[in-house]
Amino acid sequence: MTEKTLVLIKPDAMIKQLAGNIISDLYKLNLEMIGLKLVNVQKELAEAHYEEHKGKKFYEGLIDYITGKLHDNENVIAIVYQGEKAIQKIREFIGETNPDRASPKSIRGKYGKVHTEKNNWHETVLHASDSIESAKREIDLWFDKKELINHS
Ligand code: PPS
Repeated sequence: MTEKTLVLIKPDAMIKQLAGNIISDLYKLNLEMIGLKLVNVQKELAEAHYEEHKGKKFYEGLIDYITGKLHDNENVIAIVYQGEKAIQKIREFIGETNPDRASPKSIRGKYGKVHTEKNNWHETVLHASDSIESAKREIDLWFDKKELINHS
């Protein structure tokens, strides 16, 4: 089934200049890139994006992370990919949430970091939508329809 999904290259990856390598890795999945932009992430967008996690113990950290407060860089690259089983393919490719448990070949295994000194906070490198419903909601949040190629 053809799906769309949202990928965010988070501020840690941006500050480490990993965006090129990550996009290059993602090309291996043979998905179509139908939208891409650099976003200066404000609190309102971050809160809307992570609304389902409000109240969880890592929520404030997620907001600080994606708005760049943890890395002094609030820029994120947002990409929409489209293709057969795009959601599952990308989730598998980026690896488990905990970078120490992720496959060494996965993006989190290669570029992620666990901060034991900060209560095991994970630098997860990327966000990727986890279902068709969240992908639709997230893509509508981050992109105008006219910013996507062949959007239907
Ligand atoms: S849950 O409990 O199932 O709702 O959480 P989960 O879907 O696994 O994760 C939701 C987002 O929180 C991030 N996360 C963390 N970030 C840093 N440190 C720790 N310990 C941590 N645990 C979960 C996880 O990466 C998800 O964010 P995104 O941006 O979607 O990857």
